[in-house]
Amino acid sequence: MISELRNKIIDLSNEITSAISEATNINDVEDIRINSLGKKGTITLYLKNLREYDEASKKEIGALINDTKNKINQLIIDKKSFFKTKILNEKLITEKIDVTLTPHENEIGTLHPLSRTIEEICAIFSDMDFSIVDGPDIETDYYNFTALNIPLEHPARQEHDTFYLQPDINGNRKVLRTHTSPVQIRTMEKIDLENFDEIRYIIPGRTYRSDHDATHSPMFHQCEGLVLGKSINMGHLKGCLIDFCRTYFNVDDLPVRFRPSYFPFTEPSAEVDIGCKKEKDGSLSIGSGEDWLEILGSGMVHPRVLEGVGIDPSKYQGFAFGMGLERLTMLKYGIPDLRPFYDSDLRWLKHYGFMPVDNPSLHSGLNGVWS
Ligand code: PHE
Repeated sequence: MISELRNKIIDLSNEITSAISEATNINDVEDIRINSLGKKGTITLYLKNLREYDEASKKEIGALINDTKNKINQLIIDKKSFFKTKILNEKLITEKIDVTLTPHENEIGTLHPLSRTIEEICAIFSDMDFSIVDGPDIETDYYNFTALNIPLEHPARQEHDTFYLQPDINGNRKVLRTHTSPVQIRTMEKIDLENFDEIRYIIPGRTYRSDHDATHSPMFHQCEGLVLGKSINMGHLKGCLIDFCRTYFNVDDLPVRFRPSYFPFTEPSAEVDIGCKKEKDGSLSIGSGEDWLEILGSGMVHPRVLEGVGIDPSKYQGFAFGMGLERLTMLKYGIPDLRPFYDSDLRWLKHYGFMPVDNPSLHSGLNGVWS
């Protein structure tokens, strides 16, 4: 009985060994590994059945199975690394890049319209004395929600809106930040209150929500703004954002409307709309007309948010705003669909892209479209 079993194992080992040596590619080797050493693999099954035998046989057969397993495992590792080296060597021969080749004039790349928007926004706010900062894409629940006065039952916290990472051993889950607002908290925490007069920051960056259609993408970009000081009021918020909208859209008398709204981290809160006209062909003209288009959210930083980072709301006030950069880009350049933004389709990039050296600045003009 035992000798029969021993022979069976030896036969199996020989069979697998020759299958490995005959394998012609890395996928075959992986299949052999799964079929022999995987959860339901032939060798694994022998190990599982060991409990049926008496102590002495268990010892002998167990040792044989383990030796076989180790031998097969090593053969598989060696064969895989043989194929990996082979694939790499083939690539090195076939995928040579000639770095001496001069670039063809027509093949100069273009700046993505979204990068252009980020540069434009940075130029506009830099001119208003704002500095540019950033923060992590992977956030803690505290920075993304709690510190921003977002209650536990808020829909943004739910699974279907937010991408959560696997919980750590303490059960804490990190999130892909759903907005750039957590960086408000991170910047306010760093303030040295002893030597503090005023701060002005913008925070452009990637954000994530579980949405996907012609105007929403699971990864998108926002730009946050934060101004904090001893006498900042709603008038500053309005002046700053009206100036921004008019400069960005390059329309001096652009109508800008502040509509009361609600965000847990600002009080009062306002959504900002700009004037526009919906043309008969479905396109939009920014500036004149009877329609309004929402472009950003804003408000005075909530006293509870200030208290949470140790700032006395009776001494300091501030305003914050957040805007979606894809939306601003689509509006300014008349791009109807969001999805091609991330397709890297050269025809689209050529059509909507910009000359890379033509950097936006207020004196050279923000709107030098390259065609
Ligand atoms: N974080 C908000 C959003 O993503 C925008 C916002 C930022 C509103 C700052 C007010 C102040 O919708």
